[in-house]
Amino acid sequence: MPYYTQLGRIPHKRHTQFARPDGALYTEEVIGAEGFSGIQSIAYHIHPPTLVDKVLEPEPYAIEYADKDFLRHRHFVGENVEPGGDWLSGRRYIMGNPDVDLALCAPTEAMSENEFFKNATHDELVFVHDGEGRLESVLGTVEFRQGDYVHIPRTLTHRWVFEGNVQPRLLIIEAPTEFKPPKRYRNDVGQLLENSPYCERDFRPPTELNTLDQEGEFIVRIKKHGKLHPFVYRYHPFDVVGWDGYMYPYAISIHDFEPITGRIHQPPPVHQMFEANNFVVCSFCPRLFDYHPDSIPAPYNHSNIDSDEVLYYAEGDFMSRKGVGRGSFTLHPGGIPHGPHPGTTEASIGKKETHELAVMVDTFRPLNLTKDALAIEDEDYIYSWQPEKHGHPMPDAAPIPPHAGDGAVTNASPADAAR
Ligand SMILES: [Fe+2]
Repeated sequence: MPYYTQLGRIPHKRHTQFARPDGALYTEEVIGAEGFSGIQSIAYHIHPPTLVDKVLEPEPYAIEYADKDFLRHRHFVGENVEPGGDWLSGRRYIMGNPDVDLALCAPTEAMSENEFFKNATHDELVFVHDGEGRLESVLGTVEFRQGDYVHIPRTLTHRWVFEGNVQPRLLIIEAPTEFKPPKRYRNDVGQLLENSPYCERDFRPPTELNTLDQEGEFIVRIKKHGKLHPFVYRYHPFDVVGWDGYMYPYAISIHDFEPITGRIHQPPPVHQMFEANNFVVCSFCPRLFDYHPDSIPAPYNHSNIDSDEVLYYAEGDFMSRKGVGRGSFTLHPGGIPHGPHPGTTEASIGKKETHELAVMVDTFRPLNLTKDALAIEDEDYIYSWQPEKHGHPMPDAAPIPPHAGDGAVTNASPADAAR
């Protein structure tokens, strides 16, 4: 995170004596990235975080790809992922590459109270499509609700607790590098600039430390090398009485992203939310459309020369677009153009606003697909630009609607137009 935070009790100076009420010392843990050169936090435990009573047999957890080196547009019906499992066992990995993995999860079970997870290698950015509850972590609790991105830095022990009656649906983005606000949004000291579409007030770090001093058997599944390594710790991992630093979990709502609009169609970088190594995350949010009198709100055809483009459709009016529904993924790989479906360019003219909500992940290296992806694929998607599939006899034969200034109204979604 780009700013300093502290919670609970910490000594005035780092690496100095900090005594428990019984006179023994609290145990200091520096949790840091990139050796000692990246961001870090310093936490104070009641008990040593190194006290392991048992290491159990690793459980396989590797992502296996079933389709690589393809060149065609793909569409996956995310809502066809059957709910099941808990928030870890229920993850269905859909696509990935060495820089990022994307999974869907619709958990139906809770994990037991003495089980936890730690991703030793990947930061996790979880888009909460449906559901609410709280993320409990070694550094405190973050409450989340529908539309939140929940960010968990790698190596932080945590657990998800869902509340309410809504079936949770999560889009999980995992990266072996840090998720950050784009550099162009920040000044030299990291503060978010006036032209950033969000600011520090939109981030929700932990606000509560529920410190637990409990002895027992606490299982932390640690993900590394394509396996889950179950470690049995003697003390509850949430025994921290205070911490400070830059590395901590947080939530930020997609609804707090302030869209940047213009007279003519704005390119996807205006929607950027985060950057990480070799990919970006963008948020497409409800907004007013372009206001040049001759503007075309629908995006133009474009060739991704250097990236694969993934769009996850969360909410909006894209139901009108054949085959794309809530929770759908489209993947438009670099090397071939994509763009509006027949008729959607003309239909967008004169529209004033969109209610779409979507998450985009652009990767700078090709993505690979898993067996779970192929199981929910709409295989005809590559042919969906054929005009006869949309009731048009010829490309570009649709009539142009009235001038934008002539009073046409609302509600087309550029997501309709296969961004
Ligand atoms: Fe695109």
